[in-house]
Amino acid sequence: MELLGIDIGGSGIKGAIVDTEKGKFTTERYRIDTPQPAIPETVTDTVAEIVRHFNWKGALGCTFPAIMKDGIAHSAANVDDSFIGVDVQSLIQRKTENPTIVMNDADAAGIAEMHFGAGRGKLGTTIILTLGTGIGSAIFRQGILVPNTELGHVYLSNGKEGEGYAADRIRSEQQLSWKKWGKRVNRYMQHIDFIFSPALIIIGGGVSKQHEKYFEYIKVNATLVPAQLRNQAGIIGAAAAALALA
Ligand code: BGC
Repeated sequence: MELLGIDIGGSGIKGAIVDTEKGKFTTERYRIDTPQPAIPETVTDTVAEIVRHFNWKGALGCTFPAIMKDGIAHSAANVDDSFIGVDVQSLIQRKTENPTIVMNDADAAGIAEMHFGAGRGKLGTTIILTLGTGIGSAIFRQGILVPNTELGHVYLSNGKEGEGYAADRIRSEQQLSWKKWGKRVNRYMQHIDFIFSPALIIIGGGVSKQHEKYFEYIKVNATLVPAQLRNQAGIIGAAAAALALA
């Protein structure tokens, strides 16, 4: 079945129509910069603009970079704080007049990787970590997701919060070399590896395509692999989740 997936990020809002059996885009991706400040009214207007671009009528899956419970945002690390407590799902549903499901961005990316990418068929504990503006996480055991794990917000022994230390945004903002940043990612990953003893860690986010530049600095017990769906994972996972509404 073809469904529309939309990925709301700190810097861009992206959408594509997805073949949910194959986990593949059937259209080009369409992207609009995330309005700044990223407040509920303008962000959801932008989502509606993407829906209009595809002339979409039908179920719609959407990611959001925050704790999402029953469509309501319960945090706002990389979007405006005014999102906290907002029923993002109902707001998008109203503006687009389409049945909508909204879920955490890393959870959506994780679902896509488990179904169509690097986690296919993996039953042991698998952790997907997306390195981008923040660090997102999704944990699966026997293929079942534990939602809203927020591992980007764990604190390291140096007192730093994981995503403030090792997200890809920090690499570019502080112009860190791949080696310097890779060592930071290593410190963060070793902590996660120690706490959860996963069988597999999948690294997602845009920077997963450059994994050759920093994987050599990461020494964990888990098998470490780059995401296969790269930055398409959020859109594909969101569209797959919308199957429940179709
Ligand atoms: C947010 C998470 C999100 C991650 C990636 C973090 O700052 O708290 O909800 O999954 O960024 O966007």
